[in-house]
Amino acid sequence: MGQTRRFGWLAIPLLLSVPVLWASAQGTSPPPGGAPAAAAPPNLTLKFNTPSAARGQTLSRSCAGCHGAGGVSTQAKVPGLAGQVPSYTRFQLTVFRAKLRPSAVMQGVASRLSDQNIADLAVYFATQAPGPAWAADPALRARGAALFQGGDNERNMIACAVCHGEDGRGADRQGIASVTNLAPGYGLEILHEFRDTPRFGVPHPDAMRIALKPLTDDDLKALAAYISSMK
Ligand code: HEC
Ligand code: HEC
Repeated sequence: MGQTRRFGWLAIPLLLSVPVLWASAQGTSPPPGGAPAAAAPPNLTLKFNTPSAARGQTLSRSCAGCHGAGGVSTQAKVPGLAGQVPSYTRFQLTVFRAKLRPSAVMQGVASRLSDQNIADLAVYFATQAPGPAWAADPALRARGAALFQGGDNERNMIACAVCHGEDGRGADRQGIASVTNLAPGYGLEILHEFRDTPRFGVPHPDAMRIALKPLTDDDLKALAAYISSMK
């Protein structure tokens, strides 16, 4: 399941998905001449004009082989893109392109995309309805639903719905991902990564890591089953 395959990158989106921090990141510039390149923070700021869903749709044809037609995934290990909030899609493509988020496949794909392409793709996928519910074990799903909607006070677990919304559709302005009908194999893997990967050495809101910390492997299974079959 690749639970230790990646580390660190999850923290960067959390840090930068906060709009205020986005804004301050735009002011960063490379260190003065002579400083080692490694010291320069990666430039994750995109420059683009009003995005075009029509151009995004044309570009999305090259994604369909893996992510499904219109971004509706039919492969459990590949996340769907349909219905995703644009800020999240843009940021993930940016960190793949900057080689901060691992995935040989997606780093290659993103390396061929301009800032404008990224913005066009993100706005296109956001116009698409999320894919249909995946099949899920009813008992597992019920347990996941209770955790997602209500949290667990005794274990200090905040309800996922507080951030992702009762319908799981996320929030564009805060960079909160839509998780509605997320492909189950990918969903379980990403939940493990949020919970299990080592902390990244920068101050950041750490939303997902804190949310998942009290949870067991069975809880993650239940949550992945629930979010994959939300409606
Ligand atoms: C060869 C298969 C393949 C192609 C082609 C491909 N992707 Fe991906 N994509 C993946 C896989 C697999 C992942 C999951 C990566 C991981 O985390 O391991 C992914 C992840 C993503 C993510 C992150 C989703 C999330 O929920 O975090 C985005 C965004 C994305 N791809 C966009 C695109 C776009 C846009 C295109 C077309 C321009 C594209 N991909 C083409 C296989 C592919
Ligand atoms: C405090 C707010 C907050 C809470 C609570 C929260 N999340 Fe998240 N979640 C986020 C943010 C922000 C992101 C985007 C992270 C990023 O940019 O990498 C995210 C991302 C995700 C993703 C990745 C989506 C993808 O396509 O890769 C999943 C899955 C997820 N959350 C599930 C959950 C579940 C299940 C819970 C409850 C146990 C939960 N979240 C609780 C804020 C939250």
